[in-house]
Amino acid sequence: MRKKIIAGNWKMYKTAAEAAELIAALKKDIGGVTAVDVVVCPPFVHLSSAVEQSRSCSIAVGAQNIYWEEFGAFTGEVSGPMLTSIGVKYVIVGHSERRQFFGETNETVNKRARAVLKAGLKPIVCVGEVLAERESGRTFDVIRDHVTGSLAGFTKEDMLKVIIAYEPVWAIGTGKTASAQQAQEVHKFIREVLLKMFDKATADATRLQYGGSVKPENIAELVAQPDIDGALVGGASLKADSFAAIVRNSMS
Ligand code: 13P
Repeated sequence: MRKKIIAGNWKMYKTAAEAAELIAALKKDIGGVTAVDVVVCPPFVHLSSAVEQSRSCSIAVGAQNIYWEEFGAFTGEVSGPMLTSIGVKYVIVGHSERRQFFGETNETVNKRARAVLKAGLKPIVCVGEVLAERESGRTFDVIRDHVTGSLAGFTKEDMLKVIIAYEPVWAIGTGKTASAQQAQEVHKFIREVLLKMFDKATADATRLQYGGSVKPENIAELVAQPDIDGALVGGASLKADSFAAIVRNSMS
């Protein structure tokens, strides 16, 4: 049985005071939830305080990126051991915004995901097609390429810690959710790719999140699909009431 996982990707939003307020409200509302894993991913500058604030509740904290070297002259970067040292548990890698605006490729996503594992953390590896790729019938090719490229060289043991987030780029921040059927079709395909790369046990055990305009109103239908194990939420994770409602509705 795969435990559901709902993660909030705050992207580049929230000042320190706003971040503290949001975590405090979440803690009060869903801080005792253990039936699903709940993760918040604030910007780097708020990670330490988010970890401190959520220490006495079930909410875990994730980062939005990582650099693959452990230390050195890499101005502006943050490493795995640094994240581990402050109590972060998850790291998002390969988000489409990083692929689109910061030159991320399958190769760099792979390096980052390995760095996450090396630091003893769990990577949330993002994959997803852009609109032109979907419209030209290349969705499955793109997904296969993202999954095999991002997880190249991974062992079955490594996969015990990996979460894959399918985020169709055309559904991110657009209000256009993939239908539950469209999402399920791709999630099922990702399991087939994992089966070929690893084995059936690994394909069956890996948690797959959907991301792209997830809201309190559509989460239940999404997680009712056999291969969807949770969500990576952007916009709706920035408000305590909508994120808490998503967490609650994912359990019903
Ligand atoms: P939205 O939920 O705002 O569409 O963003 C999805 C996303 O990119 C999460 O990583």
